[in-house]
Amino acid sequence: MLVGALDQGTSSTRFILFDESSGDIVAKVQKEHTQYHPEPGWVEHDAEEIWGACEHCISGALAMVPDGAKIRAIGITNQRETTLVFDKRTGQAACRAVSWNCTRTVGIAAAYRSERSKRLTGLPVASYFSATKLRWLFDKSPELREDENLVFGTMDTFLLFRLTGVFATDATNASRTLLCNVRTLEWDDELLKYWDVPRRMLARIEPSIGGDFGTVTSGPLAGVPVLCVLGDQSAASVGQCCFEKGSVKATFGTGAFVMLNTGPNPEFSGGLLTTPLFWRKGEAPVYALEGAIAVAGTAIQWLRDNLELGSTAEIAAMAETVPDSAGVVFVPSFNGLFAPHWDSTARGAIFGLTSYATKAHLALATLEAVAFQLDELPFRVKLLKVDGGMSQNDQMLQFCADLLGVPTLRPANLETTAAGAAFGAGLAAGVFEDLDDLQAKTWRPDRTFEPRLDDETRRRSRAKWAKAVARAKYWEG
Ligand code: G3P
Repeated sequence: MLVGALDQGTSSTRFILFDESSGDIVAKVQKEHTQYHPEPGWVEHDAEEIWGACEHCISGALAMVPDGAKIRAIGITNQRETTLVFDKRTGQAACRAVSWNCTRTVGIAAAYRSERSKRLTGLPVASYFSATKLRWLFDKSPELREDENLVFGTMDTFLLFRLTGVFATDATNASRTLLCNVRTLEWDDELLKYWDVPRRMLARIEPSIGGDFGTVTSGPLAGVPVLCVLGDQSAASVGQCCFEKGSVKATFGTGAFVMLNTGPNPEFSGGLLTTPLFWRKGEAPVYALEGAIAVAGTAIQWLRDNLELGSTAEIAAMAETVPDSAGVVFVPSFNGLFAPHWDSTARGAIFGLTSYATKAHLALATLEAVAFQLDELPFRVKLLKVDGGMSQNDQMLQFCADLLGVPTLRPANLETTAAGAAFGAGLAAGVFEDLDDLQAKTWRPDRTFEPRLDDETRRRSRAKWAKAVARAKYWEG
């Protein structure tokens, strides 16, 4: 039997089918969607294009498995915070989705800054989070709030509604909106009033694993239950089997996101986000501290698409041709800096250029930038599990191990986000006895990168990075 995951990310959508007894991938189809940049720093997605990509990936993957192969259940995992208003009668999008990494709401975030909000939600008020985007949409088009047929959704809610007709979300997505209380995992009246969001626009919040998400109503998955909905970073933590308090993973996607399992109680720490890691129906939620980094894969995409340096593979090969970055330091803060700085005004900057520097040095500096950003997060870890597209890059992972000074462990299956949603659905369907059984059947290591940098070199590298970041900050406005 198979379990599946619809993995709707910032840059692309995948539908992946896994063998439930071995955890192996048996079919996978992926499709990129357009990133709209109507103004510098703005990022929008067309939800209808994304739905088309979902249909394409689902039917493509199903065509790869033999007729009669049975899909027991699916999970949905998604880019979090991205904000959409859609029509509850038709499922039709009423506006473009405002992406999590869009900076149009920097002014709104500054105006709504509140320590009380941070205590209630576990999040700083920043342009990253949904309420600022919803406020912007309401201010620009009041009918989006006034029309009684329109509702708010993060991408999970929109896709779930299209698939099953159920209007729900899960706690890991709801908790990224600035409207949900991080302790009760319910919409909070005080926050709804603060942002002036009508409760009627909000989906029911369900446990992530085993919540009441309904059954797919039509199309090639008709009749298959949706048994798991997880924001992508939570899904990656489940896929990496970070079930024990103290376990930590870093996912390198469009951005990079580190999540530390802190157990059943929310913990608070300056610069980091407090967020549910996952919540199984009938059990207490498990919480995390999260270090969110806005730009990781986006920086490589920028070299590829805007500077036309070559394909991702060519850029990786280019970086390997030089022994070091020749003093080039690239701070790719295209959308401001997230953790631990939370400075929306920072902008991307390249320092240390001499006429000696080549595109190979810039390629290498870009890989190093991902590791430097990770190293800045105030986590003390003994072992770092890594995943996501960029973790195919050995050079980048070696930088991480060197800078953090901890072994960095890559699993055999890098599709951990989809795995988390699919195996979460499997868990709810009774495929696995418990979390230990899930881990034993689905998680296998590939390679561990051991740290090998001496302390003095590490200290000098960190100092140079800190100087570069300080200069990239407080740029706009
Ligand atoms: O919070 C944003 C995050 O969910 C996006 O993840 O993998 O698309 O960069 P990713």
